[in-house]
Amino acid sequence: MEELDKQNKEISDISTGEVVEEIVQHLNNPVSGPKPIVKKYLSTVEQVYTESNKFYFSDGDARVEIRVVSDEIIRVRLAPHGVFLDDFSYAVPVVDQKVTTFKMEEQEACYSVSTNTITCKVRKSDFHISFTDNQNQMVMSEDESPMHWEENIEFGGYYVYATKKCLPDENFYGLGDKSGNMNLRGRHFQNWNTDAYSFGWDQDPLYRTIPFYTGVHQGAAYGIFFDNTFRSYFDFGKEDSAKTSFWADGGELQYYYIHGPHLMDVVKRYQSLTGTHPMPPKWALGYHQCRWSYYPEQKVKEIADGFRSRNIPCDAIYLDIDYMDGYRCFTWNKNHFPDPKRMIKELANDGFKTVVMIDPGIKVDDNYWVFKEGKANNYFCRRSDDYFMEGHVWPGRCQFPDFTNPTVREWWGKLYKELVDIGVAGVWNDMNEPAVFGSGTFPNDVRHNYDGYRGSHRKAHNVYGMQMVRSTYDGLKKLMRNKRPFTITRAGYSGMQRYGCVWTGDNVATWEHLKIGNIQCQRMSISGVPFCGTDIGGFSGEPDGELFTRWIQLGTFSPFMRAHSAGDTAEREPWSFGEPYTSINRTYIELRYRLMPYLYSVFWEHHRYGFPILRPLVMLEQENSSNSYRQDEFTFGDKILVCPVLEQGAVSRMVYLPKGKWYNFWTHEVLNGESEHNIKAPLAQMPLFVRAGAVIPEYPVMQYVGEKNVDEVLLNVYYADYEVNSFLFEDHGDTFAYEQDIYSEKKFSVKGTEYQLTIEQSVDGLYTPNYEWYEYNIIGLPFNVNKITVDDKDVVDYQLDENSCLHFRSNKNFTSIKIYN
Ligand code: GLC
Repeated sequence: MEELDKQNKEISDISTGEVVEEIVQHLNNPVSGPKPIVKKYLSTVEQVYTESNKFYFSDGDARVEIRVVSDEIIRVRLAPHGVFLDDFSYAVPVVDQKVTTFKMEEQEACYSVSTNTITCKVRKSDFHISFTDNQNQMVMSEDESPMHWEENIEFGGYYVYATKKCLPDENFYGLGDKSGNMNLRGRHFQNWNTDAYSFGWDQDPLYRTIPFYTGVHQGAAYGIFFDNTFRSYFDFGKEDSAKTSFWADGGELQYYYIHGPHLMDVVKRYQSLTGTHPMPPKWALGYHQCRWSYYPEQKVKEIADGFRSRNIPCDAIYLDIDYMDGYRCFTWNKNHFPDPKRMIKELANDGFKTVVMIDPGIKVDDNYWVFKEGKANNYFCRRSDDYFMEGHVWPGRCQFPDFTNPTVREWWGKLYKELVDIGVAGVWNDMNEPAVFGSGTFPNDVRHNYDGYRGSHRKAHNVYGMQMVRSTYDGLKKLMRNKRPFTITRAGYSGMQRYGCVWTGDNVATWEHLKIGNIQCQRMSISGVPFCGTDIGGFSGEPDGELFTRWIQLGTFSPFMRAHSAGDTAEREPWSFGEPYTSINRTYIELRYRLMPYLYSVFWEHHRYGFPILRPLVMLEQENSSNSYRQDEFTFGDKILVCPVLEQGAVSRMVYLPKGKWYNFWTHEVLNGESEHNIKAPLAQMPLFVRAGAVIPEYPVMQYVGEKNVDEVLLNVYYADYEVNSFLFEDHGDTFAYEQDIYSEKKFSVKGTEYQLTIEQSVDGLYTPNYEWYEYNIIGLPFNVNKITVDDKDVVDYQLDENSCLHFRSNKNFTSIKIYN
């Protein structure tokens, strides 16, 4: 009977328009191979058994594993004919986390696997899986149809599908590197890492694959991480407004349900699976100047001098591909750079770090040592019939290391030795989708080691770039004797944040791209990839002074701040557009350096606790997720709200302020949250707001990180009539000593009344900063000051400035300050 039902289902599938369309599609697109036409669905649950934290359900043929990962995370896997694939993931190094309790119970209609927080139900009659919040019994995510699959005749394995209900009020966020609106509802996406030069507003796919999204309905959020490296697809109610589906061209149907109910919790838990970004070297948070390419040496020096002579801070200068000899990685063009070691040293003496590009394509040239080594050791990728994978990139005909082979990664990591020895401070990995001229990327039949779990390029494509930057990061870490490496990658997959930062690729110098980049960085941030930036000014095309300056302003609050442009564009340095642009650009870059202790503390909050760095408005007020129309505002950390100006000629803009009170950063005016305001935004002023009660630490302006000893830290304290905590993280800035608790994490707690303001400090960690003093700038006090005490001792020396801000100093070791009326 059941068999009959199954067959009926299969037959009804064959007759749907959907399948006919797929057949036509596949005839038109023979690269992805002929697909069989029958989708099979899980039917009724017939067998159940348990193995510690894993629960198995079978319909007699297919099996499903439900694994309790933590109190808030459950993993689901499907084995169409009962045999699971090897449990290996590049994204999730360790699956099991701490679980307090879990159990399975049988009810009349379903089996339920529950932890303290959530329950996963498997319905007996049709194998529908759902996830419920134990506290309020709210169903967070529920199958619309059972998991299903189709056999893949050509490659073996299955095309795998999951279809969930999409609720009428549900909105979707995440998916990493996507362009277009923040809310993903009503759209369809594909993940296939692609060199997307000059991409457009809605273009898809782009450079990176992050198959993780969050759904928000009735104010509650959950996440789904579909850990599948094959070409994958997501549909958020586009094909059918009642369905959210995700599927892939191969691999296992394996996903994690990640509970909220707050969006922030979902992101933090996703980071607990895939890891956070390691602390970057502090200089990496400075301003970076790049171009394709600065050469010869004289030009590089001119640029460096240009910064110093104009007092515009800058920490890093980049060498794009033209520093190499015929684009051969790990070589130098000695005509342009006769003595790179000397040049890098001179730049370093002037406070500049040198970052160089390294691409994956290795020139086929028997006189080139990297090619010879790779060839001799069989490190390059091969086609199915053992031919080498060859393709044209910058150097001409190239072969490509298989970075999914641990031995190759080890070798590649060591290739950086000479670059590190001569003082190179950071490495930029590009073209690692992998990009190939003409064909776009490798053909599907290229073979990969995949860390011993072998696969074709269909399986390895989306992780190729991530494994490249992994080998770069690990190699540099060893070569730099445990100093923090700085690496950038263009392509990546979930978990890439453990190995490097990203830029959004080849954007365009248009106002539209300023908008795209703004959303892209926020989206990356809530998709687990926090250290992200755009090519400030746009890679191709020509910005005018206004666009460039507005981009610098947004870039001041991008986790990664780098200007970059293509070689055929006009000069693109912060001074290239003359006044008033140069001065405004300087002010913002200086602001970045003034705020360095704040930005660095936000990075720590990310690294240590998994908080995203940029937080879109919807994350602050998810109960009102329709508010996501205000997708152009975000907070950096949780104290500074950034409302960039994204319209040409604008001199004001509407902003929405979230709950609480906010200070206009420029005027100190206090504004009420949960309301909209029209804010002046002349070219020199990007609207910025500080949360009332915040303590924003500042260092003196420096031309580069570490230029000056900090003798005193300025604490900007923004009065509030409620209690707010702020954090200041400090450490050596370039080692991994923080892993041994060698850091200082200070908590400032600010609480005001009508007559008094109290600031309390507590300190954690084993690092002692060199400075002794804090200088206070107390903003917005609603009363006249009659008395100040620091740890009960009176402060005699205090003044009000022309803006009515209160100034005084204290030793950094205070525990309690009181300011009285
Ligand atoms: C790619 C990169 C770009 C780089 C260029 C030359 O287009 O995305 O940033 O400048 O290659 O290396």
